[in-house]
Order: sequence, then structure tokens, then C-alpha cells
Amino acid sequence: MLHLIETQQFDRDSLKKLFALATEMEDRRDESLRGKILATLFFEPSTRTRFSFESAMMRLGGNVISMENAGESSSSTKGETLEDTIRIVDNYADAIAIRHPEAGASERAAAVSEVSIINAGDGAGQHPTQALLDLYTIEREVGGADGIKIAFVGDLKYGRAARSLAYLLAKYDDVHITFVSAPQLRVKDDLKEYLSGKGVSFDETEELAPSMRESDVVYQTRIQKERFPSEEEYSHFTGKYVIDRSLADSMKEKAILIHPLPRAGEIAAEVDDSPHAVYFRQAGYGVLVRMALLAALLDPKHQGIIG
Ligand code: CP
Repeated sequence: MLHLIETQQFDRDSLKKLFALATEMEDRRDESLRGKILATLFFEPSTRTRFSFESAMMRLGGNVISMENAGESSSSTKGETLEDTIRIVDNYADAIAIRHPEAGASERAAAVSEVSIINAGDGAGQHPTQALLDLYTIEREVGGADGIKIAFVGDLKYGRAARSLAYLLAKYDDVHITFVSAPQLRVKDDLKEYLSGKGVSFDETEELAPSMRESDVVYQTRIQKERFPSEEEYSHFTGKYVIDRSLADSMKEKAILIHPLPRAGEIAAEVDDSPHAVYFRQAGYGVLVRMALLAALLDPKHQGIIG
């Protein structure tokens, strides 16, 4: 059984094949997943991930059963364990995309599931399908990840999307990563150890302006309010790294500004029509990448792309 839990499970060959398939998915509507069912089981809020998975499944002729607010509306409120929920839902679907507030929840689900589990975000752990669409965006908009300078900005302690993408970038040559954050929101040591072990060049700073000028890709992130112990603690970090039009205008001519979204004020609306602003196109690429992932998991014609 093939599960999609973390980005470390991909290699460059599988990424190349997956992205080629994603590009083929542009404007596609077919019946290749007819009769297949995707369950989207979301214990945390989502707009992009849940809808783009559902749209992807429907574009390939498949069906969707969906639960939002599963923390409130599923039988977990009656005391059912995550494992038992998965043992039940896997009778009803061919794959389960799960979002959960606890890091490691997808792995727990995969340990008991008879169908493919797709990690759609697990707490401060990983968000692998977001990272795949982020990397696809870099491929489409910059031409590839080899040799890029990328700055991750904002909440790097709790931000699972940035973390997942950093793991993926370790597979590319001559990448330099700058982590821009407040000292309290620095990227965790396990990721830094991984990058060092893979020979990836990186540095950490509190200064945003130099990275805006020097990077090929700026990856802005939201302060993850829901992960902070209190509103007061969260409020210390809001407004520290706001990208306004003058910062966006300081970027290199071909550099791109991306963001997993939603944003909460860290990119000013005046940046939206900047040629560097790619974040809305990036969200659109999510459908193509998730179509390719669903095809790789559920269509025998594409088996072997990942695994
Ligand atoms: N980027 C992302 O995961 O967005 P949603 O929370 O809306 O799914």
C-alpha cells in the first residue's frame, strides 16, 4: 500500500515524472478514475487543499466523500480514536486525504489503513502535497530548482509547508536557503541537521530586505496563530515581516514571490499585481499536482511514478 506522508519519500526521478504528468493534466477532464472514491477527512480548516483535491478527483471522473470540521462532526467527539475512524473510512473509499492538528497523525492513519493515506497537513509536521505544488511552481516559473537562492520567511517553527519544501530542495544541486525569522520562530534543529547532512548551504537571519534583493524565490509564510499557546504570544510576531510593494519592487527581475496561503497581512494587497507575485497561480497549480498524485496512486496506468 502506497501512502504519501512526507516529502523525503520522493526522489528526483519520481518528481520529474510526477511534474510531467501534472503538466499533462492542464485542462484535462476525463474518466480515468471513474468508480474510484476519495475521502477528504479534515480535522482542521482548509480552503485550498480540500477543494483542490476534490476538484482534482472530479476532473478525473472520480467521486468524493468529504468531512470538514471532523474534530467536531465526526465520531471522534464520541471518543473514537483516529485509528478506528480510519479503519472505518477505508471501507468507504479508495484513498483518504487527511488533515489533522497532530504531527504524526498521517503516519498513525497509514499504520492501520487498507487504502492509501495522503497527508494533507499534520500539525507542525509536514504538508507534502503543498510542497510538491510549491516545487512545481518553482519549476514552471523559474525553470527549475537547481542553483536557486530561496528565502523562507516568517513562522519557520510551526510552518509545515516551508519545512516540507526545504526537505524536497535538499534533492537539488547548489541550492542556497536563507531562513528569515524572529529568533523564537526559527526552523527546528532536526531540519537543519538534515540539510547539513545533505550538504545543503543555508543561513539564518532576522533581516528580510537583503533576502528580498538577492533571492530567486521568496517563500513568505503566515504566522501560524493556531499553534501558539496564547493569542498574546502570537501577537508578538504579527506585522514583523510584511512584504509591501517597495520590498517586492526590490526583487531581482525574474525572482518570484510565493506563499502557501492563506495570508494574514504578511503580503500587502498592493503586491498582488507585481510581476513577482505568483501566489495565486501557485494555488491553481495545486489542482494539476493533485490530479497527478491521484492518478499515480489510483490509476494502474500511472503506477510506479511514486513509491
Ligand atoms: N495552503 C493550504 O494548505 O491552504 P488551506 O489551509 O486553505 O488548505
